Amino acid sequence: ARRVRVHHLRELKQRGEPWPMLTAYDTFTAKIFDEAGIPVLLVGDSASNTVFGYSSSLLVSVEELMPLVRAVTRSVTKALVVADLPFGSYQISPEQALTTAVRFMKDGQAHAVKLEGGRRFAPHVEAITAAGVPVMGHIGFTPQSEHNLGGYRVQGRGEAGDDLVADALALQEAGAFAVVLEMVPAEVAKRITSDLVIPTVGIGAGPDCDAQVLVWQDMAGLNQGKAPRFVKRYADLAGVLSQAVGQFADEVRGGEFPGPEHTFH
Ligand code: KIV
Ligand code: NA
Repeated sequence: ARRVRVHHLRELKQRGEPWPMLTAYDTFTAKIFDEAGIPVLLVGDSASNTVFGYSSSLLVSVEELMPLVRAVTRSVTKALVVADLPFGSYQISPEQALTTAVRFMKDGQAHAVKLEGGRRFAPHVEAITAAGVPVMGHIGFTPQSEHNLGGYRVQGRGEAGDDLVADALALQEAGAFAVVLEMVPAEVAKRITSDLVIPTVGIGAGPDCDAQVLVWQDMAGLNQGKAPRFVKRYADLAGVLSQAVGQFADEVRGGEFPGPEHTFH
């Protein structure tokens, strides 16, 4: 099958066909998601929590994310792989943003990058796209601004909705190929989606976005923590895995494993 390119995503929007996106951080999951036909995989800075066990997404570094990006790009044949720029690696200046994006494209072999922020980050998006690197924007609730936004809360209610529309338009104007809308009222997401020619990717942004993204450990139930309202659990991987591990431990302790079929002579 063909590789997914940014223009394909725009075509899906024009045809009114919603598409799924997931995070991925390693080879086996990337292969499964790619073969399942997920067109876009994000190596999110959510790896800070889901892979490295930090308490906040602000803590993960470029150096930590880079091998995960490489693992995912090496493992897919079709999916477009987006590398999330972590906190501190692009906010300083458009030049810093471009430098970090280039690292993810060369060392990480990513196909695109993503960064958080609205109008004020249009120059950063422009610098990266001018260098030929596709950029995905991310507005609404932006986890890297958690402390300034006052925690995990819906953004763009009331008059702030107009600000979000202006942010989305500025990112499109700066050359972004898509924009994530996180925790925004469905009505605002619907308005942005119809105002933009580039696709919107919703997470907690209602049903009218062009695409939907979830963190895979949340949607597959590997994360046992309290999930936000916008997460739907499609499986209980934590349950499956603890059952398997428990049975393995019991069989080793009881002398049942390994059996003759697992043994060489
Ligand atoms: O880091 C991440 O996983 C993300 C998605 C939830 C959009 O930014
Ligand atoms: Na992120």
